Amino acid sequence: VTYLTTHRVPTPVEHRELADVVGWAGSFRWDAMPASLAGSVCGVVVHDASGGLVTMGRVVGDGAFFFYVQDVAVHPDHRSRGLGRMVVQSLQQQIGERAAGEAFVGLFSTPEAVNLYDGQGFRSADGMTGMWQVLRP
Ligand SMILES: CC(C)(COP(=O)(O)OP(=O)(O)OC[C@H]1O[C@@H](n2cnc3c(N)ncnc32)[C@H](O)[C@@H]1OP(=O)(O)O)[C@@H](O)C(=O)NCCC(=O)NCCS
Repeated sequence: VTYLTTHRVPTPVEHRELADVVGWAGSFRWDAMPASLAGSVCGVVVHDASGGLVTMGRVVGDGAFFFYVQDVAVHPDHRSRGLGRMVVQSLQQQIGERAAGEAFVGLFSTPEAVNLYDGQGFRSADGMTGMWQVLRP
Protein backbone atom coordinates (compact mmCIF):
# COMPACT_ATOMS: atom_id res chain seq x y z
CA VAL A 1 0.00 0.00 0.00
CA THR A 2 1.30 3.46 -0.89
CA TYR A 3 0.79 6.21 1.66
CA LEU A 4 1.08 9.97 1.26
CA THR A 5 2.26 11.85 4.35
CA THR A 6 1.56 15.57 4.72
CA HIS A 7 2.88 17.74 7.53
CA ARG A 8 -0.18 19.77 8.46
CA VAL A 9 -2.90 19.86 11.10
CA PRO A 10 -6.02 17.85 10.15
CA THR A 11 -9.02 19.90 9.04
CA PRO A 12 -12.14 19.81 11.23
CA VAL A 13 -13.79 17.48 8.67
CA GLU A 14 -10.80 15.11 8.63
CA HIS A 15 -10.54 15.17 12.42
CA ARG A 16 -14.24 14.34 12.78
CA GLU A 17 -14.02 11.55 10.19
CA LEU A 18 -11.21 9.67 11.95
CA ALA A 19 -12.59 10.43 15.43
CA ASP A 20 -15.88 8.78 14.42
CA VAL A 21 -14.07 5.76 12.94
CA VAL A 22 -11.97 5.12 16.06
CA GLY A 23 -14.89 5.61 18.48
CA TRP A 24 -14.20 9.12 19.73
CA ALA A 25 -17.54 10.60 18.64
CA GLY A 26 -18.33 11.59 22.24
CA SER A 27 -14.84 12.75 23.18
CA PHE A 28 -14.82 16.29 21.81
CA ARG A 29 -16.90 19.44 21.92
CA TRP A 30 -17.40 19.65 18.18
CA ASP A 31 -18.24 23.36 18.02
CA ALA A 32 -14.83 24.07 19.57
CA MET A 33 -12.79 21.89 17.22
CA PRO A 34 -12.19 24.35 14.36
CA ALA A 35 -10.57 26.78 16.82
CA SER A 36 -8.90 23.96 18.74
CA LEU A 37 -7.29 22.56 15.58
CA ALA A 38 -6.32 26.05 14.39
CA GLY A 39 -4.52 26.54 17.70
CA SER A 40 -2.30 23.49 17.14
CA VAL A 41 1.48 23.80 16.88
CA CYS A 42 1.79 21.27 14.07
CA GLY A 43 0.32 18.02 12.80
CA VAL A 44 0.41 15.24 10.27
CA VAL A 45 -2.14 13.51 8.04
CA VAL A 46 -1.65 10.38 5.96
CA HIS A 47 -3.78 9.39 2.95
CA ASP A 48 -3.84 6.17 0.93
CA ALA A 49 -3.44 6.05 -2.85
CA SER A 50 -7.18 6.56 -3.42
CA GLY A 51 -7.21 9.69 -1.28
CA GLY A 52 -8.77 8.13 1.80
CA LEU A 53 -7.66 9.52 5.15
CA VAL A 54 -5.92 6.78 7.16
CA THR A 55 -4.03 8.54 9.97
CA MET A 56 -3.77 11.82 11.85
CA GLY A 57 -1.93 13.32 14.76
CA ARG A 58 -1.24 16.79 16.09
CA VAL A 59 0.70 18.70 18.71
CA VAL A 60 -0.56 21.45 21.00
CA GLY A 61 1.56 23.59 23.26
CA ASP A 62 3.56 26.81 23.55
CA GLY A 63 5.64 26.19 20.44
CA ALA A 64 8.92 26.66 22.31
CA PHE A 65 9.37 24.19 25.20
CA PHE A 66 6.12 22.52 26.26
CA PHE A 67 4.49 20.29 23.64
CA TYR A 68 1.66 17.77 24.01
CA VAL A 69 0.81 15.07 21.49
CA GLN A 70 -2.90 14.92 20.78
CA ASP A 71 -5.46 12.97 18.68
CA VAL A 72 -3.21 10.25 17.21
CA ALA A 73 -5.49 7.84 15.38
CA VAL A 74 -5.01 5.18 12.70
CA HIS A 75 -7.97 3.87 10.68
CA PRO A 76 -8.69 0.26 11.82
CA ASP A 77 -8.16 -1.07 8.26
CA HIS A 78 -4.58 0.24 8.25
CA ARG A 79 -3.27 -0.72 11.69
CA SER A 80 -0.12 -2.69 12.58
CA ARG A 81 1.72 -1.40 9.51
CA GLY A 82 3.86 1.14 11.34
CA LEU A 83 1.61 4.14 10.58
CA GLY A 84 1.15 5.04 14.25
CA ARG A 85 4.91 4.96 14.70
CA MET A 86 5.32 7.13 11.58
CA VAL A 87 2.90 9.71 12.96
CA VAL A 88 4.68 9.93 16.31
CA GLN A 89 8.10 10.19 14.63
CA SER A 90 6.83 12.91 12.31
CA LEU A 91 5.45 14.89 15.26
CA GLN A 92 8.75 14.46 17.15
CA GLN A 93 10.65 15.73 14.11
CA GLN A 94 8.38 18.75 13.73
CA ILE A 95 8.71 19.57 17.44
CA GLY A 96 12.49 19.35 17.07
CA GLU A 97 12.36 21.89 14.26
CA ARG A 98 10.42 24.34 16.45
CA ALA A 99 12.23 24.01 19.77
CA ALA A 100 15.56 25.83 19.95
CA GLY A 101 16.95 23.16 22.31
CA GLU A 102 15.54 20.55 24.67
CA ALA A 103 11.77 20.24 24.63
CA PHE A 104 9.29 18.65 27.03
CA VAL A 105 6.83 16.41 25.18
CA GLY A 106 3.85 15.04 27.09
CA LEU A 107 0.75 13.03 26.25
CA PHE A 108 -2.08 10.95 27.64
CA SER A 109 -2.03 7.45 26.15
CA THR A 110 -4.91 5.07 25.61
CA PRO A 111 -4.07 1.55 26.88
CA GLU A 112 -3.59 0.27 23.31
CA ALA A 113 -1.11 3.02 22.41
CA VAL A 114 1.26 2.57 25.38
CA ASN A 115 3.58 0.24 23.42
CA LEU A 116 3.63 2.65 20.50
CA TYR A 117 4.72 5.61 22.65
CA ASP A 118 7.11 3.51 24.75
CA GLY A 119 8.83 2.45 21.53
CA GLN A 120 9.35 6.12 20.65
CA GLY A 121 10.97 7.02 23.96
CA PHE A 122 8.01 8.10 26.12
CA ARG A 123 7.97 6.93 29.74
CA SER A 124 5.38 6.97 32.53
CA ALA A 125 5.98 9.91 34.82
CA ASP A 126 8.25 8.86 37.70
CA GLY A 127 6.84 10.29 40.92
CA MET A 128 4.36 12.38 38.93
CA THR A 129 0.71 11.66 38.16
CA GLY A 130 -1.02 12.84 35.00
CA MET A 131 -4.17 14.68 36.10
CA TRP A 132 -7.01 16.41 34.26
CA GLN A 133 -10.54 17.69 34.60
CA VAL A 134 -13.28 18.83 32.27
CA LEU A 135 -14.18 22.35 33.37
CA ARG A 136 -17.87 23.20 33.02
CA PRO A 137 -19.28 26.72 33.03
C1 LIG B 1 -2.81 2.95 18.92
C2 LIG B 1 -2.76 3.11 17.40
C3 LIG B 1 -2.51 4.57 17.07
C4 LIG B 1 -1.60 2.24 16.86
O1 LIG B 1 -1.49 2.46 15.46
P1 LIG B 1 -0.76 1.40 14.51
O2 LIG B 1 -0.55 2.04 13.19
O3 LIG B 1 -1.49 0.12 14.52
O4 LIG B 1 0.64 1.21 15.28
P2 LIG B 1 2.00 0.72 14.63
O5 LIG B 1 1.73 -0.29 13.56
O6 LIG B 1 2.82 1.90 14.25
O7 LIG B 1 2.66 0.00 15.87
C5 LIG B 1 3.58 0.67 16.72
C6 LIG B 1 3.78 -0.14 17.98
O8 LIG B 1 2.59 -0.17 18.78
C7 LIG B 1 2.23 -1.52 19.08
N1 LIG B 1 0.77 -1.64 19.03
C8 LIG B 1 -0.03 -1.23 18.03
N2 LIG B 1 -1.33 -1.52 18.33
C9 LIG B 1 -1.31 -2.10 19.55
C10 LIG B 1 -2.32 -2.65 20.39
N3 LIG B 1 -3.63 -2.62 20.03
N4 LIG B 1 -1.97 -3.20 21.55
C11 LIG B 1 -0.65 -3.23 21.91
N5 LIG B 1 0.33 -2.75 21.17
C12 LIG B 1 0.02 -2.20 19.99
C13 LIG B 1 2.87 -2.34 18.00
O9 LIG B 1 3.13 -3.64 18.48
C14 LIG B 1 4.12 -1.59 17.68
O10 LIG B 1 5.14 -1.96 18.58
P3 LIG B 1 6.42 -2.75 18.04
O11 LIG B 1 7.08 -1.81 17.07
O12 LIG B 1 7.20 -2.97 19.27
O13 LIG B 1 5.88 -3.97 17.40
C15 LIG B 1 -4.07 2.61 16.73
O14 LIG B 1 -4.37 1.33 17.23
C16 LIG B 1 -5.29 3.51 16.99
O15 LIG B 1 -5.53 4.46 16.26
N6 LIG B 1 -6.09 3.19 18.05
C17 LIG B 1 -7.30 3.94 18.38
C18 LIG B 1 -7.00 5.36 18.79
C19 LIG B 1 -6.01 5.47 19.89
O16 LIG B 1 -6.06 4.79 20.90
N7 LIG B 1 -5.04 6.39 19.70
C20 LIG B 1 -4.01 6.73 20.66
C21 LIG B 1 -4.37 7.99 21.31
S1 LIG B 1 -3.31 8.38 22.69
